[in-house]
Amino acid sequence: MMIVALFNYLLSFLIAHWNTESFAKDDFIYGQFPSYFRWGIGTSSYQIEGAWNLDGKGENVWDNFTHTSPSPIKDSSTGDIACDSYHKYEEDAKLVKSIGVDFYRFSISWSRILPLGTKEKVNQAGIDYYNNLINSLLHHEVSPVISIHHWDLPQPLQDIGGWVNEDLIEHFGDFARILYQNFGDRVKQWFTFNEAWVICVMGYGDGIFAPGIKEISETPYKCIHTILKAHARAYRIYDEEFKSQQKGQVGITIDSGWLEPSDPNNPEDIEASERALQFKFGMFASPIVFGKYPDIVRKRVDERSKQEGRSTSRLPSFDKYWTDYIKGSYDIIGLNHYSSYLVTPASSDPGPGWYGDQDTATSQDPSWPETGSTWLRPVPWGFRKVLNWIKNTYNNPPLIVTENGYSDLPNVVLNDYGRIEYYKGYINNLLKAVIVDGCNVRGYSAWSLMDNFEWASGYTERFGLHNRERIPKESVKFLKNVFRSNGFRRPNLPWDRQSKEQCDIAA
Ligand SMILES: *[C@@H]1O[C@H](CO)[C@@H](O)[C@H](O)[C@H]1NC(C)=O
Repeated sequence: MMIVALFNYLLSFLIAHWNTESFAKDDFIYGQFPSYFRWGIGTSSYQIEGAWNLDGKGENVWDNFTHTSPSPIKDSSTGDIACDSYHKYEEDAKLVKSIGVDFYRFSISWSRILPLGTKEKVNQAGIDYYNNLINSLLHHEVSPVISIHHWDLPQPLQDIGGWVNEDLIEHFGDFARILYQNFGDRVKQWFTFNEAWVICVMGYGDGIFAPGIKEISETPYKCIHTILKAHARAYRIYDEEFKSQQKGQVGITIDSGWLEPSDPNNPEDIEASERALQFKFGMFASPIVFGKYPDIVRKRVDERSKQEGRSTSRLPSFDKYWTDYIKGSYDIIGLNHYSSYLVTPASSDPGPGWYGDQDTATSQDPSWPETGSTWLRPVPWGFRKVLNWIKNTYNNPPLIVTENGYSDLPNVVLNDYGRIEYYKGYINNLLKAVIVDGCNVRGYSAWSLMDNFEWASGYTERFGLHNRERIPKESVKFLKNVFRSNGFRRPNLPWDRQSKEQCDIAA
């Protein structure tokens, strides 16, 4: 067995390197992922569950936000019913199975487990729901992977200030402990937070996401600071109380596009690209890997705060205790990645806050194809670049791609060839990152299982491999084949016929 494995490894290495000599950044390569590689599909609680007020569930910030009048949501919709996954979890588990994945990444509605947000009141119906879902998945031989928090904070915790109140560190730790206690015998991979940048900058800075707070200068930094501590708390609780028995992993999911220098030969654009990456991915990765905010972020926010006449920096600092507590608080890092942006120094200063502090302006190349989301244009080679940047900046940490996906153009129903093209390009660049560049990526999860409530865009942007009636789109066949083949097998052998056909769909 060892010799066969070694031979296969050498063969894929040779094929990959033989290809590299000639391939340009957009070229397609054949090859397979390492045998340990795992494939998955993802969703989140508020986006699919519905049943917002059933069986003892409490109100959360997204319930509150979507029920506000006038509605802050593009089509005035809500997640009250969404995909009704609260009632249809068995169908969901079958759907997940039908794609041929190894794992299903979903999140837990905090208010369904703890209606008031705190451990004093546990809702057994909520525990039952997730037990049923987990058991259905295991019945289909799909591993559950859990995001502990995907944006739907209990409203009573928002009422005491939300993520700027450091009491939430302990409340989050209590919530995580209850999940480990109830589900940890069967769940071996946990991600504490999903895209905390979105919570803090879009929710507490721009105010276009729940809880709708528009305080860009300082509040997002306070929110990030509390969330990093809460993440570390949940990581340490697992490490100290559960890991030796349950033997699972805990990480955090960080979102980042690739930020390409507008002019790759201009040193100012190269510096702007690095600053933008540090303000985005680095805000979270640097504390958990190195125990501090990125140097460039520290320097710029401190200097600007002083110029504004403040006695303290708008960016808080970790004391010795928290530095040690946060540093190293990960077994694995999750990356959510969708698109790329061109970066150059800003031409004007929008003022104090996450945007102004970094002195960057971003845009997208109009020649990149459009999708159903204004912020998302397919740039497959950007995926390989961001994976290499993470490898080089953080000493090649173990990584899982926790989200990657495409939203349909408005006229597309089930014939989603744009999505097939997207996945073909992105997964192929992931393959290059893994087998050519040596990036330590252990798995990949596509987004999303089905069309669902896309936050402030309501149901107008559709990321699903299935529609909301759970009918598969064309892309399911393509991804299923990639997952089963563990990559892209050469089509010139007779038994690879199907693989070739599937690749030709996308060609
Ligand atoms: C949102 O929450 C606040 C504070 O708990 C409450 O006063 C308000 O009525 C809620 N709004 C809606 C629309 O549920």
